[in-house]
Amino acid sequence: MNVVTSIGEFASRRDDFVDGEHPRVVVADIATRPRGPAKIITVANEKGGVGKSTLAFHLAVALTDAGHKVLAVDLDRRQQSLSRALIARGGTANRRGVRLPLPQHLLLQQASGAQLCQELARAGWDCDYVVIDVPGYDSPIARRAIAMADKLVSPVNSSFVDLELFGRFHPVTHKLTGPGCFSALVADLRAARMEAGMAPLDWLVMINRKRRETSHNQDRIDSALRRLAQRMDFRLGSGLHERVAYRELVLLGLTQLDLHRFPDLARSKNVAAGEVLQLLEDLGIEQEPGGLLDWQRLKRQLRPIRPIWGSAGSGSARAEIRSAGFLSGL
Ligand SMILES: Nc1ncnc2c1ncn2[C@@H]1O[C@H](COP(=O)(O)OP(=O)(O)OP(=O)(O)O)[C@@H](O)[C@H]1O
Ligand SMILES: [Mg+2]
Repeated sequence: MNVVTSIGEFASRRDDFVDGEHPRVVVADIATRPRGPAKIITVANEKGGVGKSTLAFHLAVALTDAGHKVLAVDLDRRQQSLSRALIARGGTANRRGVRLPLPQHLLLQQASGAQLCQELARAGWDCDYVVIDVPGYDSPIARRAIAMADKLVSPVNSSFVDLELFGRFHPVTHKLTGPGCFSALVADLRAARMEAGMAPLDWLVMINRKRRETSHNQDRIDSALRRLAQRMDFRLGSGLHERVAYRELVLLGLTQLDLHRFPDLARSKNVAAGEVLQLLEDLGIEQEPGGLLDWQRLKRQLRPIRPIWGSAGSGSARAEIRSAGFLSGL
């Protein structure tokens, strides 16, 4: 797992991307700060709109559902997507009178690395997991969120334009010619962490918005990702498919794992819930005995697809979703 030497062999070097605070400075800053035993999962990718906030929301909720105490940290003060989803979740729980597992939530008031470290030091003694949603651009605070992580999760979309942040490919042969700006940054932060005696960073990259049909392009992307995974030392997660439900349930603060709590939304097979559970497994997360969600039971339920939408009474979740024009593709 020697990332530094493998990068050195690439034609394109970190020098191509030098700007911003040096990773050694970032790591020196966070390495000396106190932190509690909570595990930090940072969801980051410098590419915008790849599904970071969606994933951070699903992760924070699923971890809470699994019986863990979770703090969800929204670093995107401008869009506040994670915060809005969590606030909507509280609203839906009240409106429908349903008990929904709700993580604690923090929206940083300033884009300040020092404040992030301070909050994490405080929360680190009070919860099991911290899930950090990082905006889609490089910044000192984004670097700190990655440098502090136990696990880094990076969603990517199925496109060579998105993969360019992870590795540079020859446009015709698709041969890997060098690291991309984001993977070079992660490699440098990992190297700096190693020098500072910190634990290795586990990096999981997963395709988000995967299309169901296989295509020549998807095969090339899969093969490119496998080569990148070896070269940049990350694990490949099973990923999430493109599903309308991922974006539309979030507006109500709900995830696929909540559907069993709403009889009018019940389904005999909820494949997307399986994808979310698989993500937790990819991250090596275990269920706590007191968890609200019975993973094993849910997995057993993932049998042949046959939606069993109940009747939509007024005020039902289904009616609520339908009235907002959300039914398609759930
Ligand atoms: N698996 C999916 N299926 C369908 N839609 C998705 C999926 N994942 C994300 N989306 C949608 O893609 C869009 C971008 O998602 P999101 O806001 O989570 O990205 P982001 O990486 O956080 O963006 P930013 O970089 O701006 O913070 C949203 O409309 C979201 O609902
Ligand atoms: Mg976002």
